[in-house]
Amino acid sequence: MNNSPTNPTTRREFLLNTGRFAAVSALAGVVLPQVHAAENGLTQIALIGCGGRGTGAAFNALSVKQIPLKLVAMADVFQNRLDGSYDNLKGGPVGGLVDVPAERKFVGFDAYQKAMDCLKPGDIVIFTTPLAFRWVHFSYAIQKGLHVFMEKPLTADGPTSRRMLKLAAEATAKNLKVGVGLMSRHNRGMQALANRIQDGEIGDLILLRGYRMHGPGGSAYSTKWPGTPSELLWQIQRFHSFIWASGGCFNDFYIHHVDHCCWMKNAWPVKAQALGGRHYRQNSDGAPLVDQNFDVYSVEYTFADGSKFIMDGRCINDCKEIYSSYAHGSKGSAIISNSGDCGLPSSTYKSQNPDRASRLWESNVPPGEQDPYLNEWNDLIAAIHNDHPYNEVERGVYASAVSSLGRLAAHTGQEITLEQFLNSETEYAPGVDKLTLNSPAPLLADATGKYPVPEPGIKRNREF
Ligand SMILES: NC(=O)c1ccc[n+]([C@@H]2O[C@H](COP(=O)([O-])OP(=O)(O)OC[C@H]3O[C@@H](n4cnc5c(N)ncnc54)[C@H](O)[C@@H]3O)[C@@H](O)[C@H]2O)c1
Repeated sequence: MNNSPTNPTTRREFLLNTGRFAAVSALAGVVLPQVHAAENGLTQIALIGCGGRGTGAAFNALSVKQIPLKLVAMADVFQNRLDGSYDNLKGGPVGGLVDVPAERKFVGFDAYQKAMDCLKPGDIVIFTTPLAFRWVHFSYAIQKGLHVFMEKPLTADGPTSRRMLKLAAEATAKNLKVGVGLMSRHNRGMQALANRIQDGEIGDLILLRGYRMHGPGGSAYSTKWPGTPSELLWQIQRFHSFIWASGGCFNDFYIHHVDHCCWMKNAWPVKAQALGGRHYRQNSDGAPLVDQNFDVYSVEYTFADGSKFIMDGRCINDCKEIYSSYAHGSKGSAIISNSGDCGLPSSTYKSQNPDRASRLWESNVPPGEQDPYLNEWNDLIAAIHNDHPYNEVERGVYASAVSSLGRLAAHTGQEITLEQFLNSETEYAPGVDKLTLNSPAPLLADATGKYPVPEPGIKRNREF
């Protein structure tokens, strides 16, 4: 498999590699060890990062019917997040599959190790912390022989992207199955659309467009650190505000469109140049906003064949809201995500206007397969159960890197190649594996409580 932009694969190879079973063809013919937990027929799960998505991912996992599963351990850096997640899961429809007594609930930066120590090789661990900790947790899971589901994005800088690619290869060599929460890839409508586009239904793709434009969301906008909890824990709570923790709102919010538009194109872009800026540096009460995000981004990505992908993001209230994605080909067009990150239905058109009169096809996904968050778990568990090759990390790293490339181009005001980004030496949270509850934050405020922000044209070789 080679999804590297400098080594394009054929259409069908790419689809195979980026579809449900991201096979690792480099290892074809090599006999891999079987990794089966299932002592007494039971596969155990540990949850690392018990926030909104972690609770949702654990719920999705425990909803899978193919094999007996149980949640046995939980880890977080905040006791209240862990307790809230536990109560939610235990009190909900999968509560009977939640067996996490006090001695298997762990709090702190080393909690991930303690939770994974409760598992056997072949069990499953879920990573749903902010991305900064992905490589740290993944390294330990590989050591322990665990299958993994990890949320997007995976990286925010060059060094950790390279590290994660290396870890991905190690996981494959150990026959570990790894799912990545880019759930568009498990949207059955988009899978059908990708096949149609690759088969030429709308001709050669010339332009892709992704839009996520709505009011301020998540923790992307922050007023000054209130002094408690520690600056480190506060930045982790407000991870969308800090590039080291999340890649900022660009990576966290726009990666789904970045990923599925590139999937449709069958390639990763080779370079990007971008516009972006910050109109509002205080909230409606006049308090200064100290986060590192722009509130508008428009990134122009270029593929090796010269075709383009435009990704527009905006977090401002009372402006036109658009949250969908489109493909334009030499013979027609397509709606990729009808609404949101990957909303059904997808559809194709024989003109550039997505109107009923020119519609060629619309996806029709049967009930039971309409939720990509559940599909991604059914697909991962099927691969574990049937011992199919399954490792989505490489494409997760490329989707993360392409997102970071767009953010970096906007933040510096420069044109940057994907290769430059991937080879860059700037690491935003070096030593994140050694953090303790008393550590200073990776990014420190100045005397006025403000953090360094991007200044395109002035800061050209670094982001802030
Ligand atoms: N695929 C999707 O559609 C989707 C949707 C939402 C979130 N996500 C992703 O899931 C991740 C989590 O997002 P969220 O919305 O659940 O955030 P959240 O803040 O609700 O949850 C994150 C949890 O991780 C904990 N945590 C942080 N650092 C930790 C560490 N080192 N060890 C243990 N626990 C730690 C936090 O205390 C918190 O409870 C992000 O990467 C986000 O991009 C994906």
